[in-house]
Amino acid sequence: MPGLVLVGAQWGDEGKGKVTDLLAETADAVVRFQGGNNAGHTIVRGDEVYKFHLVPSGILYPGKQCLIGNGVVVDPKVITSELEELRHRGIDTSGLRISANAHLIMPYHLLLDHAGETKLGKLQIGTTRRGIGPCYADKAARLGIRVQDLLDEKILKQKITAAMEPKRLSLRPYAKDPSLDLHAMTEEYRTLGHRLEPFIADTQRIVWDALDNDGLVLFEGAQGTLLDIDHGTYPFVTSSNPIAGAACVGAGVGPKDIDDVWGIAKAYVTRVGAGPFPTELEDEMGDRLREAGGEFGTTTGRARRCGWLDLVALRYAVRLNGLTGLVITKLDVLTGIDPLPVGTEYTGPEGARFRDFPYHQSIVHKVTGSYTELAGWHEDITGARSMDDLPQAAQDYLAFIEEFLGIPVVLVGVGPGRDQMIWTEAARRVQQAAV
Ligand code: IMP
Repeated sequence: MPGLVLVGAQWGDEGKGKVTDLLAETADAVVRFQGGNNAGHTIVRGDEVYKFHLVPSGILYPGKQCLIGNGVVVDPKVITSELEELRHRGIDTSGLRISANAHLIMPYHLLLDHAGETKLGKLQIGTTRRGIGPCYADKAARLGIRVQDLLDEKILKQKITAAMEPKRLSLRPYAKDPSLDLHAMTEEYRTLGHRLEPFIADTQRIVWDALDNDGLVLFEGAQGTLLDIDHGTYPFVTSSNPIAGAACVGAGVGPKDIDDVWGIAKAYVTRVGAGPFPTELEDEMGDRLREAGGEFGTTTGRARRCGWLDLVALRYAVRLNGLTGLVITKLDVLTGIDPLPVGTEYTGPEGARFRDFPYHQSIVHKVTGSYTELAGWHEDITGARSMDDLPQAAQDYLAFIEEFLGIPVVLVGVGPGRDQMIWTEAARRVQQAAV
């Protein structure tokens, strides 16, 4: 059971970090393959709460191989401070490795992200302003600076000069910003390079070795399917591909190295930032989900938009990612809502009905969810540890999802704690298959 990809099946924040962390216990390696510190995940261990943006989940297991793959964009200041915090809290970070080929987020990327959003005004995407888009743009323009460049002052300086040259005009308003001074920037990034040097490696080789030894490798996605730059709700997306196919590119493996792909989805839906959201609830029910689910961003603290479970979008995610299993998180948040609507179609402004996720932007922006009402439950489910512990209505909710999507539910989250998870046989098999 070597390669398992874990991806967000909605608009991100589905709880991927917790699921990856649970499965990481027996994994040989965990590798992140895209995104950057726009991601954020919270892991609760007893009374301790850890919030990470860049380090892969699994870092809390001493010595665990936690890899930042070539497809990730790395802000060296952020990874350095995450490492410092972990060390400060007594966590062994010796298993962390950062791909020498990963691209670096530079100070000008942050400024350009900010400036781009400001210029868009009302049309803004609502980015996390972490420099993600401008960094991936430089990568595609072949003006990117990679982690390996931190190790050579001359190359670093040359590359910074070349990368900043075409941006002179857009950076003019920031001409006096000290973070843009070439010498200071080179100096600062060289210092960060010294600190990160022990972690810089050929991460793809580590992944290959683990796979060749039949070890379990978890490919940890960030963001979610509908934020994919090719297949999501463009332009209200992130600048990478959070779908499963990107695990191959962003970690350096072939499609045959992937055995299973699990999508993580909340029992309802949330979205941060702007863009279409057909099953959004802009009423008291939306507020109720936000409060009950603690739906405030790990990275930006922004309140998340909330809505009913959208099976049209989820079926799209099943197909795009080739999902073989679904993890449902936060089922407990729906307790007490009866009846319980589930989005099973979209309706357009002229009454047109859509069973499939529309490809055209102007349609996606106008459709609203049409719902099937299922029976809700009122019992506290936070103590459930098997499907049989769940009230019949909750079991029926999950069965309805499975039937609609044609894939099995493999794990169910019923609370924020590590142990508040229902493990199915399929999930146990993955854990036990690890060497
Ligand atoms: P960027 O990735 O910072 O460029 O932001 C682009 C869009 O993706 C915005 O709508 C963000 O709110 C969203 N986004 C980026 N990262 C995450 C995440 O980890 N969870 C949820 N939304 C995200």
